[in-house]
Amino acid sequence: MSDTSAFPQQGRDSDDLLAELKERQNKDLNWREGRVFSYVYDAGPEAMALLKDAFNMYLTENGLDPTTFPSAMELEKDVLRMAIELMNGGEEAEGTFTSGGTESLLLSVKTARDYARENKPEISLPELLLPETAHASFFKACHYFDVKPVVIPVDPVSFTADPVAMAEAVTANTIMMVASAPSYAHGVIDPIRELGEIALKHDLLFHVDCCVGGMYLPFANELGFDTGDFDLSVPGVTQISMDFHKLGYAAKGASAILYKHGQLMRRHQYFAWSGWSGYSVINPTVMSTKSAGPVAACWAIMNKLGKQGYLDLVQKTQSASEEIRSAIADIPQLKLLGDSKMNLLAFSSDKIDVFKLAERMKKRNWYIQPQFAFGASPANIHLTISHGNLAGFREFLSDLRACVAELDTDDAQTAMVDLPEEIAALFENPSPQLFSDLAAMFGGDGTEAPENMDEVNNLLNAMPHQIRDQLITEFVNRMFST
Ligand SMILES: Cc1ncc(COP(=O)(O)O)c(C=O)c1O
Repeated sequence: MSDTSAFPQQGRDSDDLLAELKERQNKDLNWREGRVFSYVYDAGPEAMALLKDAFNMYLTENGLDPTTFPSAMELEKDVLRMAIELMNGGEEAEGTFTSGGTESLLLSVKTARDYARENKPEISLPELLLPETAHASFFKACHYFDVKPVVIPVDPVSFTADPVAMAEAVTANTIMMVASAPSYAHGVIDPIRELGEIALKHDLLFHVDCCVGGMYLPFANELGFDTGDFDLSVPGVTQISMDFHKLGYAAKGASAILYKHGQLMRRHQYFAWSGWSGYSVINPTVMSTKSAGPVAACWAIMNKLGKQGYLDLVQKTQSASEEIRSAIADIPQLKLLGDSKMNLLAFSSDKIDVFKLAERMKKRNWYIQPQFAFGASPANIHLTISHGNLAGFREFLSDLRACVAELDTDDAQTAMVDLPEEIAALFENPSPQLFSDLAAMFGGDGTEAPENMDEVNNLLNAMPHQIRDQLITEFVNRMFST
């Protein structure tokens, strides 16, 4: 390994550098064997090779300026036309290709805020109405753009948005309502049609977050699976986010925000500035200079797979998801949360500590995602099942059964719900030093994640999320120390 602590005096050989990168990758979880149930979407070696080639061809082209790189804009338009067709957007729909789900949500909230500034100027404190299952990025958007999030509890059994409670929470300041299709945490689809009626009645914008479902639900629907309504054809839905870099199997950095009434809405998303001494900036997205690699790779994979390719992927993924779901339902110590019919699911346990389960599975080289208790949802494990997981999922299930059995001993415990009193007392007047000390305690020297996360997760799980957020900020801030 080279000395990474300083800028090298002399340059190094390319082969040597690539070898070092490869070696560094050994630290990461091995997604290539389908052992990671989230984060990575792999449609197989041929698809992966195409992504790399297409990305490389456009690696250096700059999406900042469509007059200089018109082909990048054409690729974006092609991708958006396909997306709008999948989402039944109709004649007036328009969109923007973005770097990911988070950017799509940021732009949607910024658009809603600026649309309200023009059309409802009496609103000085805009509110975003969202079920507690909405993705964290909406809160990030509220934080960035000074919009107040109004969070509504979901149905405690189905984990779907409660239309009555949502309707009751509408105020004169509400600028937009949000729902998920499906939600990330539990993989369930909110009642979009009913919520659309509420949006229409109160003259609200309505964003359906289809980030994880956008390249899945249209095909599942065509295959006859019960998706319910979710797209831009549902009355009241004004905007949709959909990610290509998830179940569209594109390279990372690929999502879209789509507006049903493109001409009316999309310009509120743009930022233009020629009041300085340099070139004129006209940015549809957050980023200005950006590689055209992601859009080229996205265009390539969508055209390579075509509808039939995606239908096949969804059919196979649905079969595996169904088998995984029923296998989990048959493990007496585990309990599925909600009634997901798609390829995302969550399960909890009244018998064993699910955070310990995640650690045991990690020792067997599987990554399953711990989720903290929040609102109606207890501490749980999330799985996103995609093509890359299909080959090994039966081995996964047998390891899952084995780990649950190992944990189900007499002294088995469930995830901690309440903080021990002496620790809770520390947080009554928390100081920055307290957060710093605790973060250090969790992370050893603070530069790497702890080897065993279950104790840390149990403590974090029992904290109010505001305290938890400060603590994980301190912790990650330390981890990134150079
Ligand atoms: C429903 C939903 N919305 C938004 C996002 C954020 O997407 P990204 O991680 O691409 O920024 C995700 C990510 O999983 C998601 O599932």
